[in-house]
Amino acid sequence: MDRLISLMTFVITTGLLISNPACGVSPYKKDAIAIHFALVGPKAIDEDAIINIVSQRTTCELQQISGAYESRYGEKIIHDIRDHLTGEFEELIIALLTKCTDFYAQELYNALNGVKDNEKALFDIFLTQNHIKLKAIQDVYLNNYQKSLKDDLERFTTNNMKKLYIKMLETQRNESTYINYIDAEKDARDLYHAAIPEDGAPNPDKFAEILTSVSYTQLRHIIMKFNDIFDQHIETVIENNFVGDFSCTLIAIVQYARSKEGYIANRLYDSLIAFDNHSLIRLTVIGKNLGLQSVREAIQVRHRIAAEYLANVSKFYFLYTLYNED
Ligand SMILES: *[C@@H]1O[C@H](CO)[C@@H](O)[C@H](O)[C@H]1NC(C)=O
Ligand SMILES: *[C@@H]1O[C@H](CO)[C@@H](O)[C@H](O)[C@H]1NC(C)=O
Ligand SMILES: *[C@@H]1O[C@H](CO)[C@@H](O)[C@H](O)[C@H]1NC(C)=O
Repeated sequence: MDRLISLMTFVITTGLLISNPACGVSPYKKDAIAIHFALVGPKAIDEDAIINIVSQRTTCELQQISGAYESRYGEKIIHDIRDHLTGEFEELIIALLTKCTDFYAQELYNALNGVKDNEKALFDIFLTQNHIKLKAIQDVYLNNYQKSLKDDLERFTTNNMKKLYIKMLETQRNESTYINYIDAEKDARDLYHAAIPEDGAPNPDKFAEILTSVSYTQLRHIIMKFNDIFDQHIETVIENNFVGDFSCTLIAIVQYARSKEGYIANRLYDSLIAFDNHSLIRLTVIGKNLGLQSVREAIQVRHRIAAEYLANVSKFYFLYTLYNED
């Protein structure tokens, strides 16, 4: 577990700081050789060498290293890692070396087919992947599991959740960074009246429609407008008028719109205190793929006291390291 923690710390604190350059010439072959040596060299497995390489290369570069490894040794790097590493350290290294679409498809498959009971995987992935990436994940899902992601989603969810997830899967969220102030005000009012209608029951469909279609920039503005006009946080209104997973998922969308880094930081934090090590691995991969640079700062700001407290119970050395970096 120490290895896992120090790798995650590395990935979050240094790996994310590396920008995502085009995959040009770079010593992939050298890295492939170093990893091979670390795995099968004459001495014990050199985990530090593996951590150094995996944490300092971008997602794109890791794919090149995998390719270089396979052409040199005639064996998939993931296969050799399975043979030589163990436990959650193995799981994280494999996750980081797997093509993202394959990794996300696998996470969704496990969540929807009860292999790993982790519903959080659904919204972590649906929120952070855009329409094009979700389409690619759907294709990989079909190809790898001979099942349709949409069918599995429909079987797994019911009522409002089903509608919301299908919308998240099929709606092409606007990716413009332009803000339409008039629409924002109208949507803020529509959302308020959908949650607190003058007569009748709250209208979940309106929330699903707006929250899955407008750009995150526009949504951030709608949330601000909502607060300005009604003097209430939209999260509170959602919480008071909708229930269960539906309410939680709407809130997750709102939080992601407020701040991507903050969202990842909160999820990392929740997973840490819940000992949800698998979510930690998923979030580490997502954070690395998104190239988020300020997750560490977000954790510090939000969880300063908690980080200190948790550091005292030592198993949260990971968070402690993030917090004490400077
Ligand atoms: C995307 O959102 C912007 C800002 O709200 C809006 O002006 C534009 O028309 C939207 N694009 C589409 C295709 O709906
Ligand atoms: C996650 O890792 C921690 C720290 O090593 C361990 O104590 C805990 O049992 C693990 N959680 C699960 C669910 O395996
Ligand atoms: C953590 O431990 C230090 C030193 O033992 C102590 O001063 C500090 O108050 C503790 N922090 C929390 C939040 O418990």
